[in-house]
This record gives sequence, C-alpha cells and structure tokens, in this order.
Amino acid sequence: MARRKIIAGNWKMNKTPSEAVALVNELKPLVATEDADVVFCVPAISIIPAMEAAKGSNIAIGAENMYFEESGAYTGEISPAMLTDVGVKYVIIGHSERREYFAETDETVNKKVKKAFEHGITPIVCCGETLTQREQGVTIDFIRQQIKIAFLDVTADQAKTAVIAYEPIWAIGTGKVATTEQAQEVCAAIRACIAEIYDEATAEAIRIQYGGSVSAASAPELFAQPDIDGGLVGGASLKPDFGAIVNYNK
Ligand code: G3H
Repeated sequence: MARRKIIAGNWKMNKTPSEAVALVNELKPLVATEDADVVFCVPAISIIPAMEAAKGSNIAIGAENMYFEESGAYTGEISPAMLTDVGVKYVIIGHSERREYFAETDETVNKKVKKAFEHGITPIVCCGETLTQREQGVTIDFIRQQIKIAFLDVTADQAKTAVIAYEPIWAIGTGKVATTEQAQEVCAAIRACIAEIYDEATAEAIRIQYGGSVSAASAPELFAQPDIDGGLVGGASLKPDFGAIVNYNK
C-alpha cells in the first residue's frame, strides 16, 4: 500500500500567539488537501490558539519538543500529558537545533520517542549529518547510529506509525537544499536500517521526510522520490509558499 505523504511545518521560535492565529488563518485555505497529512508544529505557547484557529480544517497542530518524564520538578519543560490533554498528536523529537543548543543526545531522543509512544503521540524523529561528516563520507554510518539509538526498545507496531525526518544540518536554513539523489539515498538507507532493526513490513510502513531548505520549487521532485514521504519545512512553512509545498503535486 502506498504510504500517505506527511508534510509538516516547523515554526521554530517564530510568531507570537496572536501572529500564530493570523498565520493559521492565512494558510488554512492554501494547505487544504485530501492527499497528505498536514501538520503545523508551533511553539508551545501557541499550540492552543493555533488549534482553535485550525478547527474544521485539515491542519493538525503539533509540538516542537516534549520532555521524557511524566511530571515533576523540571522547570520550563512540557510533559506528554500536557500535550495530549489539548489534543496534540505529533511532536518533533531531536531536531538538530535541540541537539546543538539544548544538549539533546541520541539517548534523550530515545527516551522522548518511547515516552511519546506511551502517550499515543506520533514522534517526528529527526536525524542528519553535518557538512564535515558528509565530506568525510560517514553520513550513512552516522545516520544509522542515530536511528538505531532513537528506536532502541521501540516495538515494530510503534515504529510503523513513526515519522523520521532526515535533515542534513548543512541544508537547514541555508538555502542549500540537498540534491534529490542525496536525499533519496539517505532516506533509502534509513528505510533499510529500519528493515534491519525490525522487518520489511515496518520499513514499508514508516514515513520518512526530507527537511532542509525545502521550497515550492524543490518539493515536487523531492517528494516524488520512492523513499521520501513528504517534508519537514522550516522557513517556507511561515509563508504562503507552504500552500504550494503541500500541494506540490497539483
Ligand atoms: O525542521 C525544519 C528544518 O530545520 C528545515 O528548516 O526549511 O528553514 O531549512 P528550513
């Protein structure tokens, strides 16, 4: 069975809550489609107002991060139950910016992935190499390690519903999109890694996105690749362009 595309925006630390409402209202008609799942991952403070604004549309509102404990003395963190209580279904885990600026590791990513599944939240699990790693020819080995640790003790049934976002760090926010061949090659290697960890059925079911300077111009070719099931979009998800990215096939 063909995998359903999933196209997610990652707003990062942009838009105040009132600006978020305005942006959801602006993008709502532009991202309408029956062909793909559409997710807006927004700053925690904007989740509730964005959800209100998205009501009745095809937009699911997701979170950009979540902590791996249930509750307690973790100042500033958001628990999975807080997210599910307001109806959040997706959470980005292990974005390279969280790894770089907030000390996230493969191990904390794994804890968060397991906790998200425990609460019925679909994790969008990020992986991706640096430019040095690509130039040293260790991209695939590095990504395989990230994936193997992220999915440690995750069951096949859980993994089937996960989303993986392959985001080469050198392509994020740089305008330097990976070539279609580079993106497809790594996404295929990720799928092969999932098949090794689990089985073919799990590898066939899991959805793998590409992220890194995706634009309305690059989306059609990227999303047509056999192992790319959509995108995780940063900068362009804050603009009307996101409508064209979601409707890349029209
Ligand atoms: O999560 C999204 C990525 O970091 C890509 O960001 O589209 O601005 O390059 P970008």
